[in-house]
Amino acid sequence: MAGQIFALHGRATSLVIEDRGDGAPLWRYWGPRLADDFAAGPGLLDERPVPSFSLDEPVPFALFPTFGMGWFGQSGLLAHRDGLDFAQSFTGSRIERAGTTLTCELNDSVAGVEVKLAIALDPDCDVLTLSTELTNRGDAPLHVQWLSAAVLPLPPDARRVRHFSGRHNGEFVPHTDGLGAALWRKENRRGLTSHWGVPGAVVLVDDAGDHSGLAFGAQLAWSGNSLQQIELLDDGRRQWQLGEWLAPGEIRLAPGETLATPQVLATCSPDGLGGVAANFHTAMRGRLDWPGGAMRPRPVLLNTWEGYYFDHDPARLMQLAEAAASVGIERFVLDDGWFAGRDDDTRALGDWRPDSRKYPDGLAPLARHVTALGMEFGLWVEPEMVNPDSELLRAHPDWALAIADRPMVTARNQLVLDMAQPAVSEYLFGALATLLTDLPIAYLKWDHNRDLAPAADRRGHAAYHRQVAATYALLARLRAAFPEVEIESCAGGGGRIDAGILPYVHRFWTSDCIDALARVTMQRGFLQFMPPEIMGAHVGASPCHSTGRSFPIAFQAAVACQGHFGVELDLLKLDEADRAELAAWIAFAKEWRHLLHGGRIWNGAARDGVVWHAAGNRDEWLVIVYRTAPMQQAHASPVPLPHIAPGQFAVREIRPGDCGTVRHFDGSWLAAAGLAVPPGPPHSATIWHGVRR
Ligand code: DGJ
Repeated sequence: MAGQIFALHGRATSLVIEDRGDGAPLWRYWGPRLADDFAAGPGLLDERPVPSFSLDEPVPFALFPTFGMGWFGQSGLLAHRDGLDFAQSFTGSRIERAGTTLTCELNDSVAGVEVKLAIALDPDCDVLTLSTELTNRGDAPLHVQWLSAAVLPLPPDARRVRHFSGRHNGEFVPHTDGLGAALWRKENRRGLTSHWGVPGAVVLVDDAGDHSGLAFGAQLAWSGNSLQQIELLDDGRRQWQLGEWLAPGEIRLAPGETLATPQVLATCSPDGLGGVAANFHTAMRGRLDWPGGAMRPRPVLLNTWEGYYFDHDPARLMQLAEAAASVGIERFVLDDGWFAGRDDDTRALGDWRPDSRKYPDGLAPLARHVTALGMEFGLWVEPEMVNPDSELLRAHPDWALAIADRPMVTARNQLVLDMAQPAVSEYLFGALATLLTDLPIAYLKWDHNRDLAPAADRRGHAAYHRQVAATYALLARLRAAFPEVEIESCAGGGGRIDAGILPYVHRFWTSDCIDALARVTMQRGFLQFMPPEIMGAHVGASPCHSTGRSFPIAFQAAVACQGHFGVELDLLKLDEADRAELAAWIAFAKEWRHLLHGGRIWNGAARDGVVWHAAGNRDEWLVIVYRTAPMQQAHASPVPLPHIAPGQFAVREIRPGDCGTVRHFDGSWLAAAGLAVPPGPPHSATIWHGVRR
């Protein structure tokens, strides 16, 4: 007899669970939308013969599989009590449904563990939010090695997994691995999200691609260690688990104590990688917590870092602010170098007060100058860090993460503060609150410039999890106290881009590599998981500081237009023509940000080194076409734009201060035959505006 069927339906997807009442419910389906009145037929186990050389009652794939009592796949839980209770099997379950949320409580009275699963579907964007809670119901401590935040089913024809890794200055490098018989597993043990360990992936079914085919995406909402694994099951399906990677001994639950995992956001789309991205964008927009409750147009910003580095001269910075205002900048961000003794990266992190040598009257004169020019003032901080050469560490040598009798491991000459010590977070809250109270600061750029090695508390226990939780708590406290202040998440560029920190921040710094050509690929990776309006994208100096390559302002600006537009160079060194060109691009970014941000985006590639990015909606869109390499064809190929719906469109090329002749096309022509774009040199871009007639 089939058990009780629970189904959740979204716009384009459904999931189905079967509860047989004798253990963890079974995963039956996650995929394209079923009819409201679908019938699941016989129960999973009812017409399934027992294979030879098998347990007499094989254990099927459940919502939360556990090791030791007949499930031979990856377990959702690895835990023990001093070597005992390592095998778990649920004897009782209770599922409750509230709208499109299911909660499932599982009990193992023998091993003394209780697991609660939450699965909520946002039917508008087909994104599931899943999490797991484990409670120790035994009378001795439970050591937890692994607790999966989500266990998801993938269909047998899932063939490839697209994931991203990278490094400082080289984020979001795309990789596609074939899914075979062996376990696919990716672990990040760097203590923060990291450049390397993007905590999410997209699984592609059959020949799914950019715009079509069945694709499944998942990402872990956590700014620390992570683990993702995909495993072939003996019925041809695969299970996908995501959660926090735990260090040995890190989690020890006392009797009655509960461990809650981070959330996993997961989605399924019939529209390939682009469909998964669009679903994630809607979900991320729902998680963003904007001052005033809604996003306002993203202010074009200027960041002082690559223009000035540590060399701060208030008089020159005031001139820079004037130049910034004159080209249309709306937010002026003073980066690293402003605080006591910070002349290079060897000292002063932790001493969060203005350098009286550089700023004898403090930061107020500069900040007021900026606001008097009509711009917002933003300030860089790196709260979780401390230099050994700082007043803070000299006063509190036990505030840094360290293990007794082991050397302090520095990176960029800095150590990491133990955020979970109440005195540390109290000090940081006080220091940041003083700055935010004394100065007209509208924006903090919150940096984190190293991996954790090791994260250990004063007794020497691994403290990765609590480091992240304490950082979130500090961010939440600051947001509550200063709700108007926006925050940018930065970690040496894109080392902390994830859905866990998202509710506390409003922008991610994508990468310290501002090289526009490198950014084309990198930004596409970012946009797989996050929406464009929170993707920091700047026009920088030429040659670019991180790669030495030079690109025209127009190409850099057309790449930066994809995201939250910014400028990061010394404007005072630009000649008049370049300054005017940049001003025209800033005006362009402002004119079109209503279409570039907040709507749907599509990304694709065409022949002969062409890459394109489209933004807007089905009735009005911009398409930016990039030439990434010298043309090899004598004539340019048209660029098919498969996202464009049938119907009549008026299309014209647009440029700063100018636009081309309107032409009329049918959307189905543009989608299949393509838009004829002019030939052009490498590192050039053309931008097209289309509107339904
Ligand atoms: C790393 C960031 O990614 C840069 O943008 C800059 O803020 C530096 N840190 C400052 O030290």
